[in-house]
Amino acid sequence: MSRSTRNDLAALIKQTKSVASPFRTYLNALHQRFASVNDGTPADYIPELARANPDWFGISVVTVDGKTFNAGDAAQPFTIQSISKPFVYGLALEKHGRDFVNKKVGVEPTGDAFNSLIRLDEKSKRPHNPMINAGAIATAGLIHGPDSTARLKQIMEMFRKYIGHDVSIDVSVFVSEKTTGHRNRAIGHLMLNFGMIDANVDETLDLYFQQCSILVTSQDLATIAATLANKGINPVTGERAIEPQYIRDILSVMYTCGMYDYSGNWAYSVGLPAKSGVGGGIIAVVPGKMGIGIFSPPLDERGNSVRGINVCQAMVQDLGLHVFDCEAKATEIMPV
Ligand code: DON
Repeated sequence: MSRSTRNDLAALIKQTKSVASPFRTYLNALHQRFASVNDGTPADYIPELARANPDWFGISVVTVDGKTFNAGDAAQPFTIQSISKPFVYGLALEKHGRDFVNKKVGVEPTGDAFNSLIRLDEKSKRPHNPMINAGAIATAGLIHGPDSTARLKQIMEMFRKYIGHDVSIDVSVFVSEKTTGHRNRAIGHLMLNFGMIDANVDETLDLYFQQCSILVTSQDLATIAATLANKGINPVTGERAIEPQYIRDILSVMYTCGMYDYSGNWAYSVGLPAKSGVGGGIIAVVPGKMGIGIFSPPLDERGNSVRGINVCQAMVQDLGLHVFDCEAKATEIMPV
């Protein structure tokens, strides 16, 4: 942050201290600061996503004691996309345990794009991690049930617990992705060829397209992230969403693989477990403190929200949130 921006921010916080919490004021200032960033474009490889308004911009924070802070379009619904991946991975871990899941999907970062076709481990034929599409499709294949509806119901019920209300699917986005998802179909069938996924691969692909089409808001994303920050208990409803023993698995793969071929850079400069989606969402988890959810559709060339990255970098810098920052100073703009 430049010195003049820092001074402006300090002045704004001082001015409005009597009427709003400093953190609320801080979030609004952050929103105002990055709303004018016009880099990136909404995803268009799924035709329905291209309809997103590039000006939509929401920032939300939920603390582990259940306080919610919003700025901008925090109530605008959009599809969760790849942000669903770590949570379905958590569900698979709960159902089958760590040893079994590890045999099906690895935990090694690849530095590849999310839709990379080539990364199956040479020996084991496992996808390298659950954040790239191959790993996410294999993970969806581990959510079993008597039929496709029963399989989807388990994922929707899991998200209900994380978010605190029932979730629905954007059918137009689902149909758009199902119709155009030839690359994901190829990945699924390649894994079927190697025996890494069950024979009902088309049903599993549909399940994957459906989990990506679940509608959320930036406030929902912050609540999901806060649930991970709060040892698996939704801090607003008090309901447990995931067994605490699997939080470390989810956060580790988010930290090392959550931002695709930007993951190393992200770990270095932001230093928080995070996940992005091509709908324009990003979540970041500050363990033991808070969850951050951002929504802004224009993406960079790696498929990450441009304003989302800017906001996370600024918050980490301003609030000293990098998990390895041992010199972080106390600040008066924490979420209280
Ligand atoms: O597999 C796909 O193409 C999407 N439904 C999900 C990809 C995604 O969100 C990648 N994220 N940055």
